[in-house]
Amino acid sequence: MKNITNAEWIKSPKLSQECEICYSKQFSAQKPVKKASLEITSLGVYVARINGSRIGDQVMTPGWTAYQKRLFVETYDVTENIKENNTISVGVAPGWKGRYFTGNERMASYFLGIRETALIAALTIEYADGTEDVIYTDKTWTTELGKNIYSDLYNGYVYDPAFVDDEPMKAVVFPHKKDVLIDRDGEKIKEQERLAVKEIIFTPKGETVLDFGQNLTGYVEFKIKGKKGEKAVISHAEVLDAEGNFYRDNLRSAKAQAAFVCDGEEHIHKAEHTFFGFRYIKLENWSDEVKAENFTAIVVHSDMKRTGHFECSSEMLNKLYSNIIWGQKGNYLDIPTDCPQRDERLGWTGDAQVFIKAAAYNYDVETFFEKWLADLRAEQRPWGTIPHVIPDLFDCDENSSAAWADAATVCPWQIYMSYGNKAIIEKSLESMKNYIEYIEESSRDGIWCKSWHFGDWLNLDASDVGKCDIGTNKDLIATAYYIYSSNILIKAMELCGEDATEQKAKREASIAAFRRVFMENGRIKPEYATQTAATLAVHFGISDNVAETAKQLNELVTECGHLKTGFVGTPYLLHALTDNGYTETAYSLILREEYPSWLFSVRMGATTIWEHWDSLRADGTMWSTDMNSFNHYAYGAVADWMYGDMAGINVDETNPAYKHIVFRPVTDSRIDWVKASVETRCGLVASEWKTENGKTTYIFTVPEGSTATVILPGINQEIAAGEYNFTV
Ligand code: BGC
Repeated sequence: MKNITNAEWIKSPKLSQECEICYSKQFSAQKPVKKASLEITSLGVYVARINGSRIGDQVMTPGWTAYQKRLFVETYDVTENIKENNTISVGVAPGWKGRYFTGNERMASYFLGIRETALIAALTIEYADGTEDVIYTDKTWTTELGKNIYSDLYNGYVYDPAFVDDEPMKAVVFPHKKDVLIDRDGEKIKEQERLAVKEIIFTPKGETVLDFGQNLTGYVEFKIKGKKGEKAVISHAEVLDAEGNFYRDNLRSAKAQAAFVCDGEEHIHKAEHTFFGFRYIKLENWSDEVKAENFTAIVVHSDMKRTGHFECSSEMLNKLYSNIIWGQKGNYLDIPTDCPQRDERLGWTGDAQVFIKAAAYNYDVETFFEKWLADLRAEQRPWGTIPHVIPDLFDCDENSSAAWADAATVCPWQIYMSYGNKAIIEKSLESMKNYIEYIEESSRDGIWCKSWHFGDWLNLDASDVGKCDIGTNKDLIATAYYIYSSNILIKAMELCGEDATEQKAKREASIAAFRRVFMENGRIKPEYATQTAATLAVHFGISDNVAETAKQLNELVTECGHLKTGFVGTPYLLHALTDNGYTETAYSLILREEYPSWLFSVRMGATTIWEHWDSLRADGTMWSTDMNSFNHYAYGAVADWMYGDMAGINVDETNPAYKHIVFRPVTDSRIDWVKASVETRCGLVASEWKTENGKTTYIFTVPEGSTATVILPGINQEIAAGEYNFTV
């Protein structure tokens, strides 16, 4: 940042809560320009233009951060845009800032004291003769209502190309924080892919629906002429109902519409200030002939590099994997969200932490999480609690939920594991300690029992389907998570050269308490015995007899024949089984196609991961409309088992970032071959295997400078860089 802090915050004298405000200023550059740069940010989301040309290729700027503490400034090189006489115009719409969730007191700080949108910018022009002009936002700027005459993150927008505000007014300068302004440190948000219409459908209700064949996040670019004055409307939906009609009840209050007021001229148009989660669009008031080529879906997400690939002999599993990838694309739009479509789209900590390991195989998410974790630390309360969603807009000062707030430990640790980023651990250490201290204060005799928790969210143990959080005992989950997070804190402290003796003693006390309260003879006590309980005791290394607890887990699964786990147990269920020799059970779970299972959704035609095991049921009915997303990546965490166990590509905790790799694939007779690779900081790591005539051939690729351990039946071998074949 150079000059922006000398600019003034400006807003419109008109109310700007649900529309776009366009700020503009004319200026001239009379001498040859050497360089021109625009520093800019807004309260709300902006699109800047100079002489009509859109600046930069980012969308939804300045993204979503803990606005009251961190607001990103973008600096654009605009040298090529400057002429002798110029107009800069910036459209600002409410975006993420404009949501009024609860009306509670904290919202005042969320909105930074004002409910309208606002702008701050500085355009610096350096001339060839060494002089400089700076155009600052100030009261000389003009403000008028923009052509997005309505704009809302969830509801969508109404765009009227003919709209002209006949009462433009001078901007109002207002005193406002500038110490929140910082250079952007996250990934850019960009348009990434374009999808064509797969099918034009005329539904039984007579609706005109276009199917893009893929549930995605973004918006539609469309060509339209229409009849002058006619308001053409595009509505967005993820699924059709059992009768094949357009269905959007699961979006709750989000109207998710793009409306265009026709002026009789032909236009090519797309959204500028929001996004939608959809596969289908419905056209209303569309007087143009409906041609597929006039509509393109544009996929929008953070600009992460794809690093991981996975393929195997099962087409169903390949589709599941593709659905997981699309889940990540759809929900990594500046922050890791729960879902991208309904009136939520929030940075739910629990969802983020269960999926991060899979995410870090699929894509390079280092920068993405550095940014989100800075927001997490900014939002953490002084007494250690972590809000349920980051950026925060709920009032949960006094409480943190196990498995949600643990994003504070799990996410930095995973970024260190995948990318060797020690700085993230150093930056997060205090935050981890504060959080762990909060848990200890909320515990009695080693059991974390004094907080409210989401529990094993959406599990199938609960007999009452209306209750998402009952099932596995919450103190059990919380204490297990305390032990897990405590382990991470201990490793983080030691990595930073600190003495963790005291923390180890507390962890040991809690492990002893867990065993005393919840276990007997190496098994989870019958009254607490669920798949999730046993999974946690095994996977987090809490049980004093892991083999016995794993045996119990295997019984719990095989007796009922399917999984019953929710958000907490599901990510570790297959690991807990495979790590203890129950590979066949793990494969049976992942290959199962009947409800409940991962492949059930694939069989039902899913193109992303569902929020519930039965978001859509075999009989065509759906989970209740109050919470039914078809693009919710949490259960997609299973991808880390696909890479780590099926393909066997693992980071060695003691030498992370794939400097030392552990290849430990597990095969199953129902799968003929697996092939996976990860582009790591050390280079390409790859693993594949193929079974033919009772023999399995494995090929491992170790990048230059890395080493690996190969663990196969009867083999435990160290290898250096190169490609290696084993036949077993
Ligand atoms: C979200 C979840 C989230 C949960 C909290 C839901 O509304 O969509 O994914 O973790 O609330 O339990």
